[in-house]
Amino acid sequence: MATDREHDIVLLGATGFTGRLVAAHLGGRAPEAARLALAGRNQQGLGHVAATLDREVAVVPVDAADTAALERLAASTRVLATTVGPYSRLGAGVVSACAEQGTDYLDLAGEPCFYDLTYLRHHEQACRSGARLVHACGFDSVPHDLGVQFTVEQLPEGVAIDVRGYLKAHGTISGGTLASALEVMSAAPRGAALAIARRLVEPAPTGRRVSPAARKVGRSRDTGRWAVPMPTIDALVVARSARLCQRYGPDFRYSPFLAVGTASRAGALALGTAAMFAAAQVPPVRHRLQALRPPGTGPDQERRQRSSFSLRLYGEGGGMQALAEVTGGDPGYGETAKMLAESALCLAFDDDLPIAAGQVTTASCMGPALRRRLQEVGIQFSTVEHF
Ligand SMILES: NC(=O)c1ccc[n+]([C@@H]2O[C@H](COP(=O)([O-])OP(=O)(O)OC[C@H]3O[C@@H](n4cnc5c(N)ncnc54)[C@H](OP(=O)(O)O)[C@@H]3O)[C@@H](O)[C@H]2O)c1
Repeated sequence: MATDREHDIVLLGATGFTGRLVAAHLGGRAPEAARLALAGRNQQGLGHVAATLDREVAVVPVDAADTAALERLAASTRVLATTVGPYSRLGAGVVSACAEQGTDYLDLAGEPCFYDLTYLRHHEQACRSGARLVHACGFDSVPHDLGVQFTVEQLPEGVAIDVRGYLKAHGTISGGTLASALEVMSAAPRGAALAIARRLVEPAPTGRRVSPAARKVGRSRDTGRWAVPMPTIDALVVARSARLCQRYGPDFRYSPFLAVGTASRAGALALGTAAMFAAAQVPPVRHRLQALRPPGTGPDQERRQRSSFSLRLYGEGGGMQALAEVTGGDPGYGETAKMLAESALCLAFDDDLPIAAGQVTTASCMGPALRRRLQEVGIQFSTVEHF
């Protein structure tokens, strides 16, 4: 890792709703000597964000469409964290620049099509340059990725492992998150083609198997309550961790569910998702939906303080069972900002990380070191039962 670069960490997208929260967390938690920079397309806005921090930070104007400027930005820093989304529309050049320059890259992408695209285009290059490309460093998918790893650690080694996760979350979404969700839904056929293309080239782990998540809506045998499979990026990220880490055993499966309680709620959720998916296919309807929550806006501090999440993880393997839990405050923004900022600090400053390069995950390239950091800032990982 180059230490002669101008910055330790660059935050790209620091003027956005989530970016401002990430900047505040980074500013408060980075070591005094850390060389931080805020980047984005609006120099004046960056100056305002920088002025709210209690330390010196550099300000770098750059547009995500300017390839040459992105190359210079990536070459100037050891770690680049970006909140410029929707990533499928705005993020490809940033990943490309980091893979070329050997710069560690982190984002908040919950967009499976982007995840697969960057694997296909940039994984090999990043392996050669030494860059760690870590997607989904927010609520998508840190609680799942690190929580499943924590659950696996409670079970014996060298055995088949099955983990089911049940998420309860209360909170509202930002304009940027809505834009990304609509982008993913409207590009579903392309996403499916990218997923197939990736499956054809991504090597399977030797002598081990990682099975796809269970996809059945119904009453859970773990909780006795209704649960709906989550169509999010989380299962993909955890499967990647399982492929990268021997410790997940010879036959591994993770199935994430939304814990909804009753059959009528499960039905309403399934119908609501289908209606949103249909609406996203029609451009004028999609634009009207987006106008309900414009980019740059999101839940205010009072709303965020009332928000929380818990993820219960039921693991089984080698005749043993483990029940673990990950809990925290406002999932989408308050805790997401901590997760991205702590991931950036972990890659930049923690020296007990495994050697890794290419498209990796929070669990495979940071694991317990990031978990420790998140515990320090109030995101709890605990064992409920172990038998
Ligand atoms: N669950 C999760 O893990 C999670 C949680 C939160 C957010 N996210 C994701 O994070 C992303 C950001 O969300 P948000 O609500 O913070 O969005 P936002 O408020 O709209 O912020 C977007 C940021 O991108 C910048 N930007 C847009 N186009 C640009 C360009 N061409 N060049 C440079 N910068 C550009 C914006 O700059 P300006 O200020 O100049 O417009 C702004 O700083 C979304 O993709 C969202 O889905 C994921």
